Amino acid sequence: MIVGGNWKCNLTRAKALELAEQLNELDTTDVEVVVAPVALHVPLVQAKLKRAVSLAAQNCGFAGNGAYTGEVSAEQLVALEVPWVIIGHSERRTHFREDDDLLAAKLDDALKAGLRVIFCVGESHAERAAGQTVEVCVRQLAGVLRLPRFTPARVVLAYEPVWAIGTGLVATPAQAQQTHAALRAHVARERSAEVAARLRIQYGGSVSAANCAELAALPDVDGFLVGGASLRAAEFATIVRSCA
Ligand code: G3P
Repeated sequence: MIVGGNWKCNLTRAKALELAEQLNELDTTDVEVVVAPVALHVPLVQAKLKRAVSLAAQNCGFAGNGAYTGEVSAEQLVALEVPWVIIGHSERRTHFREDDDLLAAKLDDALKAGLRVIFCVGESHAERAAGQTVEVCVRQLAGVLRLPRFTPARVVLAYEPVWAIGTGLVATPAQAQQTHAALRAHVARERSAEVAARLRIQYGGSVSAANCAELAALPDVDGFLVGGASLRAAEFATIVRSCA
């Protein structure tokens, strides 16, 4: 099981360091834990965190170093010994217009550089209401599943229904299990049953101390990608323990 804490564009320097200190008390037995501070704070948090918790960047560029104002390259993250990067978050897709082709290029570049990737997919409320959930997630996966470097050792999927992100409207266990199982079946068809079985699929979207145990118990949920609750050490610890 793997639990990610996506801190998004939150926390001051002081609060980020305070949270990092608190995470050093986290019991990570049997659970892989990855936290993603805002880019500016990554080296600071890295210096505070003990080895039990890994670091992720929230984004990275798609074509290496060079004239890409504002980007951070995969090579620069590897040089900083940041092992993970989140790619395809719905907030990157929505606010920054990152489309499926660009995200596939980013994923390939990150894997080529040696990073491990949490790759996010998820549908909008309207798409779910129209019964298009799996169709949308499959389309978002189309450009990445065919990448030779896409292996369960290097890529974790995060199913994050957009309508559940930051809203308190968590997916029901039935919705989460049904979508995760459909994504796993799709990976089995496109790649192999072995890749599908080994691929870890996180659920993300209003995960909390109150709902994590029921979701973690589902057969096709292999962990969580947590936003708001990851900023609160005690609640994040409860979510991590629910996956042990
Ligand atoms: O990447 C995780 C995030 O999108 C979920 O946010 O606040 O609903 O847990 P939240």
